Amino acid sequence: MQIRSFEEYKNAYELSIKEPENFWAKIAENFVWRKKWDKVLDWNFTEPKINWFINGKLNITENCIDRHLPAKANDIAFYFEENEIGRPVKKITYQELHDEVCKLANVLRSFGVTKGDRVCIYLPMIPEAVYSLLACARIGAVHSVVFGGFSAQSIRDRINDSSCKVVLTSDGAYRGNKQIPMKATVDEALKDCPSVEKVLVFKRTGEKVNMQSNRDLEWDIEINKQRSECEPEIMDSEDPLFILYTSGSTGKPKGVVHSCGGYMVYCCYSFINVFQYEPEQIYWCTADVGWITGHSYITYGPLLAGASSVIFEGIPSYPDAGRFWNIVDKLKVNIFYTAPTAIRSLEAAGLDFVKPYNLSSLKVLGSVGEPINEEAWQWYHKNIGKEKCPIVDTWWQTETGGILISPLANITKTKPSFATLPLPGVQPVLVDDKGKLIEGNGVEGNLCIKFPWPSIIRTTYGDHERCRQTYFATYHNLYFTGDGCKRDEEGYYRITGRVDDVINVSGHRIGTAEVESAINEHADVVESAVVGYPHDIKGQGIYAYCIVPKTTKSQDELRKEILNCVNKIIGPIARPDKIQIVSGLPKTRSGKIMRRILRKVAEGETKNLGDVSTLLDPLVVEEIVKGRL
Ligand code: WTA
Repeated sequence: MQIRSFEEYKNAYELSIKEPENFWAKIAENFVWRKKWDKVLDWNFTEPKINWFINGKLNITENCIDRHLPAKANDIAFYFEENEIGRPVKKITYQELHDEVCKLANVLRSFGVTKGDRVCIYLPMIPEAVYSLLACARIGAVHSVVFGGFSAQSIRDRINDSSCKVVLTSDGAYRGNKQIPMKATVDEALKDCPSVEKVLVFKRTGEKVNMQSNRDLEWDIEINKQRSECEPEIMDSEDPLFILYTSGSTGKPKGVVHSCGGYMVYCCYSFINVFQYEPEQIYWCTADVGWITGHSYITYGPLLAGASSVIFEGIPSYPDAGRFWNIVDKLKVNIFYTAPTAIRSLEAAGLDFVKPYNLSSLKVLGSVGEPINEEAWQWYHKNIGKEKCPIVDTWWQTETGGILISPLANITKTKPSFATLPLPGVQPVLVDDKGKLIEGNGVEGNLCIKFPWPSIIRTTYGDHERCRQTYFATYHNLYFTGDGCKRDEEGYYRITGRVDDVINVSGHRIGTAEVESAINEHADVVESAVVGYPHDIKGQGIYAYCIVPKTTKSQDELRKEILNCVNKIIGPIARPDKIQIVSGLPKTRSGKIMRRILRKVAEGETKNLGDVSTLLDPLVVEEIVKGRL
């Protein structure tokens, strides 16, 4: 399964295009299947219908855990580093992982959860979060993780969209010097979630929480009632494994659905090859389990490969900006995978936070979530990797399940800010706005993929048509990523950012329409328009233009209230960085907001705003430019 040289990569790539079914069948043979598949692939991108390893039967947790036992029983699956510095590192062996996952799976079964039921997970970055995903997968329940930074209302929408039966949460969470309530937020959400029957509450902070009788149960008490064996549910390759909600251009977040067989195969294959993981190495991905990176490259990928990894509860700036490097030094981390926003913020903190630590254990560095600018790339390369560690700039999405375009560490020649080349099995193409294929090198266009890979999105939960519309209808017979991309003279890919109305704030995907509708909940706001603008640390910041025609409040008051609205409806991650109160928005005669102009003003451009002659009221632009923040 592991590619060892560039030559091997080229051969694997060629084979994967010529004979995709043979190529993936061979890789899939490395896993435990309860029944082998009858056919490798059946697909079309028009419905879309994509089936991999048809009629294959498996359980992904058997592949993540059981198959590594007994040989690896005492190997460390996870090192858990708490939020507070100086606490002993908790080591979790593969045997312990097995036992914890089985016990939790049995708790879920005792709640009446069966194959196909949905379970919502709202937990901090603690080992129990990873156990929770695996416990669901063990019994065939479909997990739906909600990131801890989302509000009660966001949790409620997600729970109701997929009618979750159970919620797994904790009393509170530690995040830097803050203690964040989790259970209280869940309680608020559950005021209107009729499908939820049970809530299991892990005690993390010990804060006082309300426990509703017949519904809420204590984690430890329930776990201790259970056996540490749990027969895995046998799943079909195409049974859903999880739902993960993500933002798009329009409407509410959609539940991206991944299925068991293809996801397992691709997740493991991409993990091993991109990071070139070797047995006994220590791998650390700093993502949160609430995002796809935490699913694929904290939980499933590393475990499928039998790796040892780090789970970190805290944040990079606590107690100071040296925390990441402190952990790398302490645990002798070999592979380190983080987001450009973290790199930029640590760069800004200065080298004094890097110098005290010995980083010589590092062999490979990774980047994910947003384009990495050249300056951050160089800083990472020089000061963290000491110019000897390759940087794998991994491009992928919630919908792709795994990394699609990335260097293979120490195999692909890297180039700052380039995700470089597609993994075997991945066929990227660039098209223009009309869908015409842009061939050759030294070109730029919209990034699409023309052939399915095993972990491609299968549907959007409860609304297959939305899946078709969003990803497969823009360009005929292509999966559309929503990203713009350059292909340079060498054929290397460089992702330039979203071409739709999605902004990427600190690596978090946020739909501008979602933020607008949250802002519009404010009683005095009649209309708003939200755009992204370049931000030194976050990559992109959120700039909101709001029309507030009649109000007795001061601008400061208004801004505060608008922020509260967004906090309440989406969560703190979607709070605008800038709010400009305006009397009108630049609209065409047909009433369409000219976002292009708003984007330019937010970026700081005041003169070359392009053609404004089609605007209903060109004077609006003058006012907006004058009031720019
Ligand atoms: C962006 C995160 C440039 C991109 C795994 C994509 C990137 C969106 C990179 C998906 C990268 C992710 N270079 N841009 N290496 N990785 N992106 O679903 O715009 O949270 O469409 O998945 O992040 O974000 P998502």
